[in-house]
Amino acid sequence: MKRSFTPIFIHLSERFGIDFPERRLPFFEKKIQERLHILHLDEVDEYVRYMTACPEETGRLLDILTINYSTFFRNPLAFDYLFQKLLPAVMTKDKKMLRVWSTGCAMGEEPYSVAIMITEIKKRLNLSVDVRIFGTDINPAVIEKARHGVYHEDQVKYLRHDLVRRYFRYQDKAYRLISEIKQMVDFSPYDMMDPKTYVPPESVFGSFDLVLCRNLLIYFSKEKQHIIMDKLYRSLAPGGHLVLGEAETVAGPHSHQLKKKIPCCQIYAKSKGAHT
Ligand SMILES: C[S@@+](CC[C@H](N)C(=O)[O-])C[C@H]1O[C@@H](n2cnc3c(N)ncnc32)[C@H](O)[C@@H]1O
Repeated sequence: MKRSFTPIFIHLSERFGIDFPERRLPFFEKKIQERLHILHLDEVDEYVRYMTACPEETGRLLDILTINYSTFFRNPLAFDYLFQKLLPAVMTKDKKMLRVWSTGCAMGEEPYSVAIMITEIKKRLNLSVDVRIFGTDINPAVIEKARHGVYHEDQVKYLRHDLVRRYFRYQDKAYRLISEIKQMVDFSPYDMMDPKTYVPPESVFGSFDLVLCRNLLIYFSKEKQHIIMDKLYRSLAPGGHLVLGEAETVAGPHSHQLKKKIPCCQIYAKSKGAHT
């Protein structure tokens, strides 16, 4: 007989705002099924009781269901455009402060990739702009890993060899980021479905020049994508840029207010005259 996983979906949805779109239900159900098997539990109700009695189980399930896959410079085309064109154009001599937000940042590969690019550009153009990068994710466990900045070789596979040499130390079969890059990024847990805030409280006021929200929208229904998109739009400074994942596009009420920069990548600009 087919089990109903609804109580678990409701629990996670209420507590973390995670969405369970119809098309991804088989994946979620398979993962929960595997977890029940490991715990030798037969019934979904038993598992819900277990989660209540053992609060860290919710975190474990969150780890299993929110795929934290990422790599440095994932989708090299988009990163190349940021590196060669967009960031050098934004980082002019008059720019005093550059603010970046990487949402759903997993283990930090994405915000650290941006930190590496900015460091390279600053050196190349001899700039002294102040840089603040925020990395947030719903999952506190991956945020903790991000703060350590230690990576498996699979996670650095898209990096140029000279960048690996300059910014990592290879030790105990792992690639360890140097502190110059680590200290450029502030990490904190943050739920993109949080109804009370538009930006992570740690970032104080938003107004970001660059926001990356890649491979996160795909987990949400259209309605929830619109809520997230509203948050992203408001978090951008006028003239700021938004980067989405390869399979994601701007949707909802702000679609006409964000202009696509180039055909091959999901990179959008908010108009310089925009108010919010
Ligand atoms: C597939 S990873 C993408 C990582 C990175 N952005 C990239 O594109 O390589 C998706 C991340 O989104 C996070 N996530 C899922 N739901 C979230 C939410 N409601 N708020 C914030 N982060 C969320 C997951 O924990 C996961 O780390």
